[in-house]
Amino acid sequence: MTNLNSQPNTVLSQDELKTLVGQAALQYVVPGDIVGVGTGSTVNKFIDALAAMKGQIKGAVSSSVASTERLLALGIPVFDSNDVDELSVYIDGADEIDGHGNMVKGGGAALTREKIVAAQSRKFVCIADESKLVQTLGKFPLPVEVIPMAAKRVMRQFSAMGGQAQIRLKDGQPLVTDNGQIIVDVTGLQIADPLAFESQVSQWPGVVTVGVFAFQKAQVCLLGTVSGVKTLTF
Ligand code: A5P
Repeated sequence: MTNLNSQPNTVLSQDELKTLVGQAALQYVVPGDIVGVGTGSTVNKFIDALAAMKGQIKGAVSSSVASTERLLALGIPVFDSNDVDELSVYIDGADEIDGHGNMVKGGGAALTREKIVAAQSRKFVCIADESKLVQTLGKFPLPVEVIPMAAKRVMRQFSAMGGQAQIRLKDGQPLVTDNGQIIVDVTGLQIADPLAFESQVSQWPGVVTVGVFAFQKAQVCLLGTVSGVKTLTF
């Protein structure tokens, strides 16, 4: 366990924990390489920290329009994923992570590009505050990116599994992802076998990406806790 706090007994806010793990992730960035960059409020802290070593890396492959804009604003070059064969490391947050490195992701609606960049990376380093660590995935509403014409059918399939699905809204309208699709959020699931679940739901017609990351699970989790950054390896 690495303690990065100067005052270990101080109770840190969730935002401060995110800053700590964002900074701690820099140790996994390989100088001279291109780094895979996720999406979300925790990754934003990582991107801000990455600016300090931008002269030491070639740039980044980004998992969302939002992260691309933040990277570019800080002067970090962004590469198209098609122009890069393999990344040494992918740094991203999670909505939930279990004791094996399986995750639920997509609270920021970027799950499809996140899974693509994770798949082209040799190592997934998850950065999260300790509220994200769970025994069994499923408490956080599971995001699923869906082609709109399949939405109702996919929602019925989740109902048949015992879940409750609803279309994610933004300003009263279905949220449209960076890929032009919509998100269905599913509550009431207990995902006891993440690999089997991801495998099953990924085959439903119209599902673009399910937010369970078991095939692309984390190898490392930097967890922000009250007593510092805890490193979990899987
Ligand atoms: C984005 O689509 C998500 O997968 C994020 O990685 C996840 O929601 C974690 O986000 P926060 O760091 O904002 O909690």
